[in-house]
Amino acid sequence: MNCDKINILCCNFVVLVIKRYRFITNRNKYMAGKAKFGSKIGLIAATVGSAVGLGNVWRFPSVAQENGGAAFLIIYIACVFILGIPVMLSEFALGRGGNSDAVGVYKRLTPAKKWYFNGILGVLASYIILSFYMVVAGWTLEYFWQSISGGLFDTSTTFVNKMHQLIGTSWSPIIWTVIMILLNMIVLLLGVNKGIEKLSNLLMPLLFVLLIIFCVVSLNLPNAIEGLEFFLKPDFANVSGATFINALGQAFFSLSLGMGILITYAAYYPHDTKLTRTAVTVSLLDFLVAFLMGLIIFPAVKSFGLDTDPEALKGTTLVFVTLPEVFSQMPVSQLWSALFFLLLSVAAITSTISLAEVNVSLMQDRFKFSRVKSSLIVILPLFVLSSICSLSQGPLSDITIMGNTIFDFLDLVATNLMLPISAFFCCIYVGWVLPKNFLERELTNHGEFGSVAYPFVLFCVRYIAPILILFILLSPFLD
Ligand code: PFF
Repeated sequence: MNCDKINILCCNFVVLVIKRYRFITNRNKYMAGKAKFGSKIGLIAATVGSAVGLGNVWRFPSVAQENGGAAFLIIYIACVFILGIPVMLSEFALGRGGNSDAVGVYKRLTPAKKWYFNGILGVLASYIILSFYMVVAGWTLEYFWQSISGGLFDTSTTFVNKMHQLIGTSWSPIIWTVIMILLNMIVLLLGVNKGIEKLSNLLMPLLFVLLIIFCVVSLNLPNAIEGLEFFLKPDFANVSGATFINALGQAFFSLSLGMGILITYAAYYPHDTKLTRTAVTVSLLDFLVAFLMGLIIFPAVKSFGLDTDPEALKGTTLVFVTLPEVFSQMPVSQLWSALFFLLLSVAAITSTISLAEVNVSLMQDRFKFSRVKSSLIVILPLFVLSSICSLSQGPLSDITIMGNTIFDFLDLVATNLMLPISAFFCCIYVGWVLPKNFLERELTNHGEFGSVAYPFVLFCVRYIAPILILFILLSPFLD
C-alpha cells in the first residue's frame, strides 16, 4: 500500500471517529438531564397511579350502573380501545420521541411552528385541576383521620351534617389540604426515581391489596348477590346515545388524557419500553380498579338496605355519606373506614403527584431550574389557590362565576373544555402534522420489532379519536 492510500484511510478513519463522537455527544445532549424510570414495574405503577383516582371510585360504578350495567362495561372497553389507548399512545409517542416536557416536545419536534401552544393548554389544565383535586385529596386524608380517631362515628349527628362540617367549614379542610400539599412536595423534591417511582411501587400494590380485601368482604355480606345484580344486570333498554357519550367521557378522564401527564411520564420511559403493551396494561388495570370498586360498593349498599337513589351512589355523597353509613353498620367500623379512606388517599395522591410533575418537568426543561426550585415554584402557589377552592365549598360559596362556585367553575372549564381541546389537537398533531412514520417509529422502538397494532392505532388517531373527542366536547349541547 502506498503512502497516499494510508493517508486517505487514516483521514477516513478520523472523520468516522469525529462523526461518531458528534453523534454520541449530540444524542447525550438531547437526552441530557432527563431522569428515567428505573424498572418496567415502576413506570407502570406510576402511570397507573396517575390514571387511578377518585374518578374510578365515585364516577365509574354509578355511571356503569345507570347506563345498562354489563352492557355499559362492553361499551366502555370498546371506547378504551378506540379512543383511550390511541390517544394515550399519541401522548406516549410525543413524550418519549420528543424527550422533553409537555410543551418542549412540540418545540423540539416542530421548532418553527406554534404547536407548543397546545402543550401550554394541557399544562394549564393540569395546574387548574391540581388546585381543586388537591382539596378533594385533602378530604380523603381528613376522613382517614376521622375514621382512626372515631370522630366520624360519633352518633350526635348524621353523616350528611358531618360532611358539611368536615368539608364545608373554613379551617379543617384547609389544614388537610395543606398536609396533602406538603406530602406532594416531599415526593416531588425527592425526584422521579426516589420520589415518584418509589412511592408508586409502594402504594400501587397496597391499593390492589386493599381493593381485594374489600371485595372479599363485600361479596360475602348477606344479599351481596342483589347488589351484584343491581350493578351488572345487562340492561340494553338503558343504552342510548348518552350511554356512549358517558363511556367516552369516563374513558377520557379516567385515563388522564389531554393534560400532559402521559407526555411527561413517557419522557421518563427508557428507550426500550414497549409503548403499546404499556398503554394496554395501564388501561386495563385502570378499568379493573373501577370495576372492583363497583363490586365493593353495590353489594355493601344493598346488603345494608341503604338508599340506592342515583344521587346517593355518586360523587361526594357516595364517598362521604353513603359509604361511612355502610361502615357504621359493620363490626369494627373504624378499621374498615380507615382502610377505605387510606385506599382513597392512595388513589388521590398518586394522581395529584402526576398532575404536579407535569409542571415541575416544564420548569426544569424550559427554564433550566433545579428540581428543588421547580418543585417549590409549582407547589407554593397551591397553598393559596387550593385554599380558595376549599373555601368556595363553604364560606366563599356565595361567590359564583356563571352560576358555579369557584371550585365547580374551574372543574367545568378545565375538564370539559381545556382537556378535550388539548387532546383533540394532540391527535391532529401526531396523526397529521408529524411525519407519518413518527408514530410507527415509537410504537416499534425504531424498527426493533413489528407492530400489528400500528395501522389500527394510526387510523384511530387520525380519524376516530378526533371525532369522538368532538362528541365529548359538544355533548353538553347535544341534549
Ligand atoms: N384519572 C384520575 C381520576 O380519574 O381521578 C385523575 C384525574 C383525571 C383527575 C381527570 C382529574 C381529572 F379531571
